[in-house]
Amino acid sequence: KDIDVLVLGSLNMDLIIETDRNPYPGETIRGKAFYTSPGGKGDNQAVAIGRLGGNVSFMGCVGKDEYGRQLIANLIDNHVGTGGISELDGVSTGLAFINVFKGQNTIILYAGANGQCTIDQMKHYEGMIKRARILLMQLEIPLETVVWAASVAKKSDTMVVLNPAPAATLDDEFYHDIDVLVPNELEAQQLLDMEVKQRSDYDKMVTMLTDMGVKNAIITLGSKGMIYNSGSGIKHKPAYEVKAVDSTGAGDAFIGGLCYALAQGMDMDRATDYANAVAAISVMRIGAQSASPTAKEVEEFLAKHTK
Ligand code: RIB
Ligand code: NA
Repeated sequence: KDIDVLVLGSLNMDLIIETDRNPYPGETIRGKAFYTSPGGKGDNQAVAIGRLGGNVSFMGCVGKDEYGRQLIANLIDNHVGTGGISELDGVSTGLAFINVFKGQNTIILYAGANGQCTIDQMKHYEGMIKRARILLMQLEIPLETVVWAASVAKKSDTMVVLNPAPAATLDDEFYHDIDVLVPNELEAQQLLDMEVKQRSDYDKMVTMLTDMGVKNAIITLGSKGMIYNSGSGIKHKPAYEVKAVDSTGAGDAFIGGLCYALAQGMDMDRATDYANAVAAISVMRIGAQSASPTAKEVEEFLAKHTK
């Protein structure tokens, strides 16, 4: 196998505007700053791995337009292989309209070319799935493509990691093809159609997900850390305490860090530590992708924070 991590997922141009608050319907308010940045959960996670120095390639779709060209150039700059990306005619590159206010954000997605990332399109690159050690996916492309790719991976001894974002409901059979499932707390509730009333409910959810056929489930809880299963049972691991400046893309940094660490051969306990450090560094800096650290920065962080 010559690809460590293959990301099959979305590529968006993020159009980010900073305001004091969200406008009401019919209201006009002024923005304070505007910028564009490469984004999309697939793209962000791949770039996180590339910046760490991982061997990573991408499968997905952009439109034949300026944003599409910028996204591909950005992947190349971040050492992500782009051989699995189709440039589609007659459709715009995916867009995310992001409003950042008071450290929070709202996002409106326009799928564009991501919505046309069909099985027929991705079949051209089926060989890449077989050549990969880990296949990493999210849910910003059609679900049937994700299910198909996981079944190819299963037959090829490729580990399947799924970040089920944005939240969705999945078919029971699909769970058996997932090695590592990484939802956040809201996504976990949606997957299991269950509301969390107390902390111990997260432990139950991890057990439910593994009972459904997933080998490892990691429920991320933002600044509260994560609940996951490893050889010796269900564990809670806190997040590193850092001063958060901008949490956009922190979840993507976590998952990129996790897959990089798994590809390095770390076990689940060490890989989750590593991913925690990658996410912690990324929230201390402005931006999503540009905040993602190098392996050297992660090592320094871990050396400082591990007793
Ligand atoms: O997870 C953050 C990402 O979600 C943004 O980059 C945006 O493109 C949306 O997909
Ligand atoms: Na950040």
